Amino acid sequence: MTELPARPGIKPARPHFSSGPCAKPPGWTPEKLDTQVLGRSHRSKIGKTRLQYAIDLMREMLKLPETHRIGIVPGSDTGAFEMAMWTMLGARPVTTVAWESFGEGWVTDAAKQLKIDPTIVRADYGQLPDLTQLDWSNDVLFTWNGTTSGVRVPNADWIPADREGLSFADATSAVFAYDIDWDKIDVATFSWQKVLGGEGGHGVLILGPRAVERLETYVPAWPLPKVFRLVSKGKLAEGVFKGETINTPSMLAVEDAIFALEWAKSIGGADGLIARSDANAAALGKIVEDRPWLGHLAADPASRSTTSVCLTVQGADEAMIKKFAALLEAEHAAYDIAGYRDAPAGLRIWCGATVDTADIEALGPWLDWAYASVTAA
Ligand SMILES: Cc1ncc(COP(=O)(O)O)c(C=O)c1O
Repeated sequence: MTELPARPGIKPARPHFSSGPCAKPPGWTPEKLDTQVLGRSHRSKIGKTRLQYAIDLMREMLKLPETHRIGIVPGSDTGAFEMAMWTMLGARPVTTVAWESFGEGWVTDAAKQLKIDPTIVRADYGQLPDLTQLDWSNDVLFTWNGTTSGVRVPNADWIPADREGLSFADATSAVFAYDIDWDKIDVATFSWQKVLGGEGGHGVLILGPRAVERLETYVPAWPLPKVFRLVSKGKLAEGVFKGETINTPSMLAVEDAIFALEWAKSIGGADGLIARSDANAAALGKIVEDRPWLGHLAADPASRSTTSVCLTVQGADEAMIKKFAALLEAEHAAYDIAGYRDAPAGLRIWCGATVDTADIEALGPWLDWAYASVTAA
């Protein structure tokens, strides 16, 4: 058997490069979570206060304008986005824009579950479709950062201010990593498990005024389960946006999110988070640049993700990537860096704010080691 090449001397201190759930914030330990609320009703004074505090911190960190509501809902990002789709779609024609697996998931739901015959605008993995040709008399659904291809929209300039339809952004790998022009967003969703390094389970739903108007004036033709219901007697259930959750939340997940948000605040809020992500992506970009066998799946640097960075590997197929990732995991040098199962075989390395740049830098030689190991045979 061929000998493996020598192992690099330095390992990433936190080899957590998964694209979700993502690395916990630096310095996180479970002991640091405030647990006073555990074992108490989420509707007690302390319960509601903590939920409201999480909402307030999110609003502050996202620089969300007063025009937009923000609330905690069940079912992680999927729950939040489905809730938006099922409560608001069907009022006018719909366009779904997809360029990777998660965007495709929303296409499937619009077409096969809601059966609303959407116009589908697609691009292949690594590409972004032409966003300038969309018909904005339609509601438009898109994924701000396609986590499985590493392609994101560069900004919201392509969303017209005078749109008739609503814009629906699945922004789970995007919030806290990019500046978001909230005036262009009617609906956005995310989960704490991504850039904040929080836990899954809960989704966050952001609604602009036109989305609220839709909710209060339109009743979908299909039944809505209780966990999706945002309207009561024709009026928005405002409590959802004040910490009166639809059903019982995990207060442990809430406390964990509060820890992450307080950390975010301590490093300068959104700007601090974005700077960390940019630095990580730049460090990984340098690693790629220096290695002829590595490349970016996202063709255009302008729409290349700075969170879920997807890489091509010369000669890669599924078996090779599986071995590559397993070798690094066994060495505790990198966890969970195989690309998404539906994406072209390659690597995916999370560069969101909770990852330390020194760890990305330390990863370079380990990628060399793994590549040499899998190609040695
Ligand atoms: C773009 C995008 N949408 C949706 C999801 C699903 O998120 P969740 O598992 O938090 O519901 C993910 C998870 O990776 C994602 O990256």
